[in-house]
Amino acid sequence: MKHYDLAGGGSMPALGLGTWKSEAGEVGPVIREAIRLGYRHFDCAAAYMNEAEIGQAFQDAFAAGDVKREDLFVTSKLWNDSHREADVRPALEKTLADLQFDYLDLYLMHWPVALAPGAFFPQSPADLLSLDEVPLIETWRAMEACQKDGLCKHIGVSNFSARKIEELADQATIPIAANQVELHPYLAQDDLLQRCEARGVHVTAYSPLGSPDRPDVLKKSGDPDLLAHPAIGEIASRHGVSPAQILLAWAVQRGTSVIPKSVNAERMQQNLEAATLELPSGEMNAIAMLDAGYRYIDGSFWAPEGSPYTLEDLWG
Ligand code: A2P
Repeated sequence: MKHYDLAGGGSMPALGLGTWKSEAGEVGPVIREAIRLGYRHFDCAAAYMNEAEIGQAFQDAFAAGDVKREDLFVTSKLWNDSHREADVRPALEKTLADLQFDYLDLYLMHWPVALAPGAFFPQSPADLLSLDEVPLIETWRAMEACQKDGLCKHIGVSNFSARKIEELADQATIPIAANQVELHPYLAQDDLLQRCEARGVHVTAYSPLGSPDRPDVLKKSGDPDLLAHPAIGEIASRHGVSPAQILLAWAVQRGTSVIPKSVNAERMQQNLEAATLELPSGEMNAIAMLDAGYRYIDGSFWAPEGSPYTLEDLWG
């Protein structure tokens, strides 16, 4: 498996298992199977509400001798309701307790959006705190302190625009190791990739398959079906592989790590194998033509009427 170097030392495997939308009750056996298949990179988050079951599966895998903690690369994320300085460390400690770990490999700020403590999602604009009230640098400083204390090896962000990366990088003491963003051929993020690279920030692609199982509230009428795109299908048949494998190979070949979610052993195996598939430049260019700046997860849930957040500010 290809690895990417991270700012501050160390590296991460190019392809990992996504756990968003993997239900409690099913995710434990999925983790065990993924480890048996050879997955060593796992993407988690407090907001996915399944970390305790994932943690137990890791423990069981260690006890069975399937893998050692030091051979895994595990990411988790700080939820938006814990952005205040005093709330960051307790949130990370809760994730560590759930995962039954002493440290994370990477801890990310999940969104550049702050919620009132205890608010999982905004029920009213009062649940949303502006970045003037809780500046991103306040949250970042608290994450830096956690890294210094050994609770995580690297710190990074998610859903950050290039402008927000640059502003934070200018103020950060510990470099931003990674920015995890939605990224697939409909949203190729060329500008963001270049500007992250210029700041030494590795980019991880989420929803690389277009997240077909995202919850209904995140679906918009007319959303395109990435896995069914004929150009992807044609390239897949040429290689004798599945469309999903082409999407993943494209991501890895562009230098991004990628975290497809699956709860199915056959698809997990397929996805892992895609990390070593090579596409000729003609096919890479043909896929690049699909870029439409299209977001499946457009963040509009942070920008209801009366919110201090706008989509323009989020992504612009
Ligand atoms: P399943 O979990 O049943 O395998 P994303 O990573 O973009 O969020 O996409 C996850 C969705 O894609 C899930 O519905 C998952 O279904 C499906 N999926 C994962 N791997 C494959 C694959 N190799 N081929 C087709 N669909 C896949």
